[in-house]
Amino acid sequence: MQDINSAKQNLETAGFLNLEVDPSLDLFIEIENLKKEKKAIVLAHYYQDADIQDIADYIGDSLGLAQMAEKTDAEIIVFAGVHFMAETAKILNPHKKVLLPDLRAGCSLSDSAPPELFKRFKEKYADHTVITYVNCSAGMKALSDIICTSSNAEKIIESLPKDEKIIFAPDKNLGAYLNKKTNRNMVLWNGACMVHEIFSLEKITKLKIQHPNAKVIAHPECEEQVLAVADYIGSTTGLLKYSQQSDAKEFIVVTETGILHQMQKESPDKLFIPAPSNNGCACNDCPHMKLNTLEKLYLCMKYELPEITMDKELILAAKKPIQRMLEISAKYKL
Ligand code: 13P
Ligand code: SF4
Repeated sequence: MQDINSAKQNLETAGFLNLEVDPSLDLFIEIENLKKEKKAIVLAHYYQDADIQDIADYIGDSLGLAQMAEKTDAEIIVFAGVHFMAETAKILNPHKKVLLPDLRAGCSLSDSAPPELFKRFKEKYADHTVITYVNCSAGMKALSDIICTSSNAEKIIESLPKDEKIIFAPDKNLGAYLNKKTNRNMVLWNGACMVHEIFSLEKITKLKIQHPNAKVIAHPECEEQVLAVADYIGSTTGLLKYSQQSDAKEFIVVTETGILHQMQKESPDKLFIPAPSNNGCACNDCPHMKLNTLEKLYLCMKYELPEITMDKELILAAKKPIQRMLEISAKYKL
């Protein structure tokens, strides 16, 4: 094991954790002790590994995690998710320490919308309101009027007048789905998620023949032809609730596989089948989410690194559209 100073230096320069962890440690006990000692809370997204979900104080979708980050009185927020989620927690808590176990945990959807390009795109639609999906960088948020997540997007769009001109970014699949749902014609940015774009309609159809009573449940980041065969479309929390409340006993789950852990835990007697990808790989695992591990979570809490740091002005600019989202969500009790 390296000494603390060289470990910290390693983290500061490399920006991620590659230190050894004593294999004799019980990391569940160690992490619980660190939580108490440092007054830290662990927030985890449903796409995290099962052991991270099991040690988390709160597991949720992007909206739930942002709401929890806003109201926690913990002194340190440890975010087991991807960078834009931890960044949102920092924007809501500029004076708190926000840690992300692996700083490289990005998001392909967020990467598909570089703020400099979006700024030029937005200039062409000067009279449009910009609604941006939370899966984006703080720079993108600063260029937006309202942020939304998959669980509140419809309500946020509906809260604007029917004739309001809107740009929706960065997810073209979610945007197209919302255009249909709300009967609008929002201008869409051409971004997508690498995980949700690879589901095979052909393989889902074959699975449905093998399991005729199974419900197909899908995240709205999936492509239109996949969403067309879904019995239910919703955020990760929405999918989980549907699987709990439905009388069905079998589900074909068209999103990242991490969510199956909670589904199976909540409904042990039901069968959850992960929808296959179109190229035979395990591409329905988000490579960014899966960069976080229990070992990195432990190290990050021990050394309080890597930390999310942000420019004050960027925090202020990105906070406004997030707050608008939280206010609208509170109004509709979302
Ligand atoms: P949720 O907000 O539905 O959890 O989605 C987050 C995400 O990254 C989906 O790919
Ligand atoms: Fe981003 Fe897609 Fe991973 Fe979600 S699943 S964090 S949208 S890359």
